[in-house]
Order: sequence, then structure tokens, then C-alpha cells
Amino acid sequence: MVYMAINAVAGSIREFSPKDIDQVYRVAQESLTEFYTQSLIMDLHREWPESFMVYTITNTVVGFIVGSKYSRTEARILLFAVDERFRKMGVGSALMDRFLQLCREENMLSVRLEVRTDNDEAIRFYKKYGFVITALLPGYYSDSSNAYTMWRIV
Ligand code: ACO
Repeated sequence: MVYMAINAVAGSIREFSPKDIDQVYRVAQESLTEFYTQSLIMDLHREWPESFMVYTITNTVVGFIVGSKYSRTEARILLFAVDERFRKMGVGSALMDRFLQLCREENMLSVRLEVRTDNDEAIRFYKKYGFVITALLPGYYSDSSNAYTMWRIV
């Protein structure tokens, strides 16, 4: 299914397809501090396939989001990134809006995620979306840096 995003650069959101893996991998590698292999990203896809969405502009993936069902009523955002060249244009907001819409459709009550404590840009973005910091997770990442858990009601 194709979802048109409003208020963003001209592009569209659709579900991830395995043929997107190279492009998603590129965005993940360039944007995320943690290293994810292609096979790990494909494993995440299996967790909740409908939640894995890509934002494309002329068939090029410029951003993606993927989640899982943490419990029957709580969703979790696992990976979320936008190509640096396309940030601050509304792509991330379009993906987040669509993800939250899916959560409502699937009767989720809340969403949680983990983010590096020094990732000011993402934390500001999430706070703007109503997420609040609920926990500090010391040494959460592979380089031992800390994470915050952030949470919001759907
Ligand atoms: N003109 C000017 N500013 C704009 C426009 C526009 N047309 N559209 C949106 N903006 C502003 C928004 O208001 C927002 O402002 P803020 O920074 O004060 O919050 C900012 O631009 C970002 O909003 P978007 O454009 O919707 O989001 P973006 O596409 O930049 O994506 C994201 C946000 C995903 C966090 C991005 O910064 C990113 O990829 N960061 C690196 C990877 C990362 O840290 N990911 C999260 C890790 S945590 C996890 O994965 C669970």
C-alpha cells in the first residue's frame, strides 16, 4: 500500500520490501551510530512487517522506521533514520505520523524507544512528539554509552 505524506518534500511512504534492503542499509550505516548488518535488519522486518516503512523520493529510500510489538498493547520503535541530506524537511515526521497511525489501528496503547543520551537532535524530535524520558539505561549500547527510554501514549 502507498501512503502519501503531507507537509514533507515530494515523496511517499510505503511498506518496506526486501528489494529495499541495500538502500535501507545505506541510510542506517550513514545515520545510526550502532552497526546493523543487512541480515539483522531483515530479522527486524519479520518482527512486525507492517511497521517497517520507507520514505522514498523518485524510488530512492531517504528514510525508514521499523518497530516491534513489545507487548500486546505497547509498540517499540527499533530503528528510525533519515538520510542526512533530507533531514529537517518533514520526512521523519511523516514516518512517525504513519507509525503512530498504525499503532492506533492495531490498538496499541503506548510506544517506547531507546535513544542515546547524547543524541540531542533525536531527543528534541521525540519530545516534540510528546515522548517523555522514563528511564536511564547505563551502558546500553555496544560502545557502553547510555540510553534513555522514551515513552508516549499512542
Ligand atoms: N523547514 C524547516 N524545518 C523543518 C521543516 C521544514 N520544511 N520540516 C520539519 N522541520 C523541522 C521540524 O520542526 C523538526 O524540528 P526540531 O529539530 O526542532 O524538532 C526538525 O525539522 C526535524 O523534523 P523532521 O524534518 O520531520 O525530521 P527528520 O526528517 O529530520 O528526521 C530524525 C528526524 C529521524 C531524528 C533524524 O534527525 C535522523 O535521522 N537522525 C539520525 C538518526 C537518529 O538519531 N535516529 C534516531 C535514533 S533512536 C531510534 O532509532 C529508536
